[in-house]
Amino acid sequence: MKQLIDRLASVHDADDRELASLLICEDPDIQHYLAVRADEIRRQVYGTDVYLRGLIEFSSYCKNDCYYCGIRKSNRRAIRYRLTKEQILSCCETGYDLGYRTFVLQSGEDPWYTDDRICSIVASIRERYPDCAITLSLGEKTRDSYQRYYDAGANRYLLRHETANDTHYSRLHPSSMRLAARKQCLFDLKEIGYQVGAGFMIGSPYQTTDLIVEDFRFLQQLRPDMIGCGPFIPHEDTAFRDEPQGALSLCLRILSILRLLFPYVLLPATTALGSIHPAGRELGLKAGANVVMPNLSPVDVRAYYRLYDHKICTGEEAAECRACLARRVESAGYQLVTARGDVRKP
Ligand code: 5AD
Ligand code: FES
Repeated sequence: MKQLIDRLASVHDADDRELASLLICEDPDIQHYLAVRADEIRRQVYGTDVYLRGLIEFSSYCKNDCYYCGIRKSNRRAIRYRLTKEQILSCCETGYDLGYRTFVLQSGEDPWYTDDRICSIVASIRERYPDCAITLSLGEKTRDSYQRYYDAGANRYLLRHETANDTHYSRLHPSSMRLAARKQCLFDLKEIGYQVGAGFMIGSPYQTTDLIVEDFRFLQQLRPDMIGCGPFIPHEDTAFRDEPQGALSLCLRILSILRLLFPYVLLPATTALGSIHPAGRELGLKAGANVVMPNLSPVDVRAYYRLYDHKICTGEEAAECRACLARRVESAGYQLVTARGDVRKP
């Protein structure tokens, strides 16, 4: 197994059977070795820097009905809110003063924010913060809309593919949602010139080891700049309420394998990972991750952007999260940096 990991660390690929054997390996010695080799590669490319992304969850309205998600349209119990442009700009201001140089604007698929409104928000942020990266995470849009946001000043786009397998995708989403459409969006975004982030939930219902290998293969085809992967965590108001959450050890193995397959990639230690274990994000960093995405949303709406239960940081001010993360990142042997943190792709 160690030989396989060494080979993966030098050629950044392995066959399906080998990847599957690493995914299921519970031997603590091997898992440790996997994390050590991944950390080595991460240090070669990014040193010990950890990049900050300030997440602004600006709308909890969504027209989609993904079965796993707490803000799906048919969840009548979800509390809905929208932030005004002024509120969003004020989040950016707080963030900038705390050293954030990337703002991630995320929402459900909310038609209230027309392309004109999104472009106006993006243009204002671009004008005030010319040195910052603007990342959007608004779901599936037309190529033309993506182009307009890009022209207004957006640089990056996050859109998880969720699973690269058609049948699995259709078990997680209503039939109105198509994996092919999602993939097309990702390729459109890349062609336009965005730095693109894809990704999937770990331990989502019906996921198997072979399906995770398919996710790796799709990612190899897409070559994204960022890969967002965190554990599935059930939400009490969804049909998946009784499904088990993704396992910490599997999350860590996947982060390490991703680092070995994609040495250059920006890999977040997600909030979901921090939500299933008190040291989840620190362990994620040690396994190969190099990005953290704390929340910059106003504290009074935080709890309402609840995609899954037991989400951390819903009561903390932005400054508290910044300080808490600085401590956590340092305790793991890295440091937070004030930088845009662009991808270092060969
Ligand atoms: N558990 C974990 N992650 C979730 N997401 C949505 N619902 C859940 C859940 N119950 C993830 C999806 C989505 C991202 C914004 O959050 O992968 O793309
Ligand atoms: Fe928010 Fe620790 S990161 S309180």
